[in-house]
This record gives sequence, structure tokens and C-alpha cells, in this order.
Amino acid sequence: MKKQDFVNKILAYHPGRPMQEIAFAYAPSNIALCKYWGKRDEELNLPETSSLSVSLADRGATTLIKLIDSNQDEIVFGEHSLSAASQFAKRVSHFLDLFRPKGQGFFIKTDTNIPIAAGLASSAAGFAALISALNLLFGWQLNNKELSLLARLGSGSACRSLWHGFVEWHCGQAQDGLDSYAEPLNEQWPELRVGLLITHTQQKPISSREAMKLSKTTSLYYKLWPEQVAKDLPILKQAIMTKDFKTFGEVAESNALAMHATMLTAKPAVLYWQPETLQAMYAIWQLRAEGIPVYFTEDAGPNIKLLFLAEQADRMQAHFRSLEIVAPWHFTEKLNN
Ligand code: PMV
Repeated sequence: MKKQDFVNKILAYHPGRPMQEIAFAYAPSNIALCKYWGKRDEELNLPETSSLSVSLADRGATTLIKLIDSNQDEIVFGEHSLSAASQFAKRVSHFLDLFRPKGQGFFIKTDTNIPIAAGLASSAAGFAALISALNLLFGWQLNNKELSLLARLGSGSACRSLWHGFVEWHCGQAQDGLDSYAEPLNEQWPELRVGLLITHTQQKPISSREAMKLSKTTSLYYKLWPEQVAKDLPILKQAIMTKDFKTFGEVAESNALAMHATMLTAKPAVLYWQPETLQAMYAIWQLRAEGIPVYFTEDAGPNIKLLFLAEQADRMQAHFRSLEIVAPWHFTEKLNN
């Protein structure tokens, strides 16, 4: 099935026409605790496995959108107007084509308070904010589950950025992808903290899309990945329910390392780690050896995310000076659910 057919199917019962001149939306970034790595359908962004994330509260992306009488989109990122030839603008315009009224362009102003393309899930927040803004602009009145299905077409992990808190993306089985959407977990963990250790902000050498494709098609170890997720996901959910931080941290860390193992064994190998990444990993393992409960996770980029509880916040800040601590259950941005 083509992306456009998928979109037409979802919007069939929500015809919609521009309801307001301008629309604005926010979506949080999310960090996977059990990763999405590998697609079973490249066109529809259907994953091989389910995944689970925690959203980053007020760390995310905003998008303002309006229709313009032009055959070209105008995309402003932060303070900069982007050239239509830039990778980012092309990706956004390509996504907008799925919803574009004939002969019209979009004006988009988007902003994020997380470094883009450094493995901090900025595209997830970006596409989730964009689809939420389109929903308001066109008056589709889609619910978050439907928005999750559409956000998925922009970037897989974006389907988890429609909610705060813990969110599970069900991989689904159907060929048409209508059962592959995210849903929030009915669990809270207000003491949980995510520490962003941002050591690199430059563009990553290879996109997650390419890296997961390479892992799936060339690594012998990728065969084990679905098995790893099938084991990790229920343990992680149980640990969240019982607030068993040790198990939670152990599984999240080992799941991230297993994902990186499929990259290391790809041909050619993909290694996002930098010397500072390893330094941080050793520092975390040293703290654990001293009895301090702190774990890490890492996505398709060199930046480590620490997982710890509020009682360790001061110690972590002292140990990792540049650490930005996010409290996932402390947010001011309201989402539309
Ligand atoms: O949604 P994408 O295509 O940017 O892929 C995200 C992949 C990881 O961030 C590494 C894992 C995840 O589940 O978010």
C-alpha cells in the first residue's frame, strides 16, 4: 500500500477543509526504553517489533502552520528560512504532499528546544507537532490514535510523541498498517528522571532510517532482535507497574546496547559512539559499582541519556556538569487528549 492510500483511508471519514487560517501545536520528544529498530514495510514505516518510550515533557517541538498561495512551501526553522533544496525542507514538504490542497503551499514555522539530528528524537517531536497542527488547521478532529497513525508516516518514532508519559507503539500485523499505532500506558512514575548528556550537536553521519535498514539487511545478529524485544518489553512494563527501578534500568540499558550490537555487526559497521559516549558509559558503570542506581540508554547518535530517580538528581548534576535533567511528569505544555 502507498502512503497516499493510507492517508486517504484515514481521512475518508474526516473530509476537513481549512477551518482556521493558522494553527499551532506542540509535541514532546520521546526516548525509547525498548527501541524501535528495523521496518517490515519501508513505505508505511511499519516496525518489526513493538517499542516503548517515555516522553520528555516540555522538551520537544512547536509548529505553526498556514496555507499560502504558492506552488512552493516556505519552511522556517527557528529563525532561519530553509532552502527548498535542504534535506530537512524536502522531508517536510514530502510529508505535506500527502495532505496538500491542490495548488497550494504551506508556511511552516517550527522550533525545537532539543538538538536536531543528534539522536535526541527531534524528528519524532517535529512530525507529531506537524500532524497535530494539520489536524487543527483542517478541522479533521482526529483522535490521538489516528494522529499517531499519520505521524508514523513522517518518522516511525513520531507515533509515540502524541502523549506525555510512557507510550507503547504496537507493531501490528496488518499489511495496511492500520493496527500499527501508539497508546499511552496507564502508569505514572513522577520520580523518574531522564538526564540528557549532550556532548555532540552535529548532524549524525548516517540517518536512523539508513542504519536500521543496514542492520536488518546485513547483520546476522539482527535475527535475534525481535527475540530480544519480545523478552524485554513485558519485563519493562512489569517493572514500570511495580516501580522496580533496578529492573527498569537494567532492561532499558541492555536493550539499547543490543540495538547497537546489530549496528556494530552490520556491513559496513555503524558506530554512533564517540570517545565522550564511552567515557559517559564507563562513568555510569563506575557509579553503579559504588551502589548508585543510574542507567543509560542511547539512540542513533552519540548522546547518552541517563535514567535515575529524583533522589539522585543533585548527585548526577554534580557528577555530569552539563547534564540537562528532564522530569517527564512535570510539564506545562498540554496535549490535545
Ligand atoms: O523514528 P526514526 O526513524 O527516527 O527511528 C528512531 C530509532 C531510535 O530512536 C534509535 C529508536 C526509537 O525507538 O526511537
